[in-house]
Amino acid sequence: MGKTRPAPDDVKTIGILGTGVIGSSWAIHFLRQGLKVIAWDPEEGAEHRLRQKIEEKWPFMVQLGLKEGASQDNLEFAPSLEYCCQNVELLQESTPENLDAKRALFAKLDEITPPHVIISSSTSGLLMTDIQTECVHPERTIICHPFNPPYLVPFCEVVGGDKTDAAAVDWAADFFECNGKKVARMKKELPGFIGNRLQDAMWREALHMVANGECSVEDIDKSIAYGPGLRWAIMGPCMNMALCGGEGGMKRMLDHFGPSLLEPWTRLEAPPLTDKLYNDMVEGFDESRKGRTMQQLAVELDECLIPIIKLLEEYKEQNQIER
Ligand SMILES: NC(=O)c1ccc[n+]([C@@H]2O[C@H](COP(=O)([O-])OP(=O)(O)OC[C@H]3O[C@@H](n4cnc5c(N)ncnc54)[C@H](O)[C@@H]3O)[C@@H](O)[C@H]2O)c1
Repeated sequence: MGKTRPAPDDVKTIGILGTGVIGSSWAIHFLRQGLKVIAWDPEEGAEHRLRQKIEEKWPFMVQLGLKEGASQDNLEFAPSLEYCCQNVELLQESTPENLDAKRALFAKLDEITPPHVIISSSTSGLLMTDIQTECVHPERTIICHPFNPPYLVPFCEVVGGDKTDAAAVDWAADFFECNGKKVARMKKELPGFIGNRLQDAMWREALHMVANGECSVEDIDKSIAYGPGLRWAIMGPCMNMALCGGEGGMKRMLDHFGPSLLEPWTRLEAPPLTDKLYNDMVEGFDESRKGRTMQQLAVELDECLIPIIKLLEEYKEQNQIER
């Protein structure tokens, strides 16, 4: 009988395929979590570059706090792709963003990796439905898209393809959550996932403003870095918008600012504010605040903003960076 998948919090060994920008950063993250990492990359000098990067970044991991058993010595560089695939409990693929290459690689990985092992891709925008087409066991193939660098930025989005088993996506979401990540377990596939779609919406608008000579590139960065970006580090955009509604929260904000969605503030088409969207926003916000009152949220925002602002000021002063 084949092996079964361990509990998400009982995984001991991760396979890292591709040790470029993202794969090497995943390796650092998992080592900090106290896991064993087996890495594979066919490029000449890959092992040396990986070990060098881990050594260079390790002091930051120490500062952040190492999990029990965490050590740089828990890295093994695999002698072959087969060795890597056969000795791990989850594979995280981070090879170049090319659909044909990923589809062929997944077919190969699927063939040589025991069927209980989850195979996860770091792809920034490809769909698992398109990657898994040649797999015999597509039910265990998922996407876990990180944000650079994954050893510092906690967010990742987990989603499957048409042929992925929902239980595999749940297992993976739990695994990443148990191992230091803040996970969005997506309900459906969507090109660009969540974070990049939101970034792209803003980016498109920024490019419109520059193209039309409406403001400078510096003003765009200033508007976010000294404006909403500061708040977004503490709470996401929905909770921040709800705070703009004062005591009335999301409901009051939608009533107040809902009509302005129809104003041409952005050059993206706004969705109609249907009753369903209205209710989904109000209920979703109520769920996400987990019992905190509007007053408590406002205090939380202020109390966290102050040290972040101070930290940025101190850092810039110490390093003589012009403000
Ligand atoms: N760079 C980012 O900011 C970022 C963020 C999130 C997700 N991603 C995604 O991560 C993936 C990797 O991106 P990257 O920026 O790290 O690319 P990269 O070019 O830095 O690294 C890719 C690595 O994969 C190796 N490789 C190629 N074929 C391989 C194979 N068959 N087996 C094992 N290794 C192989 C290469 O030698 C290289 O070292 C892409 O899918 C990308 O969309 C990137």
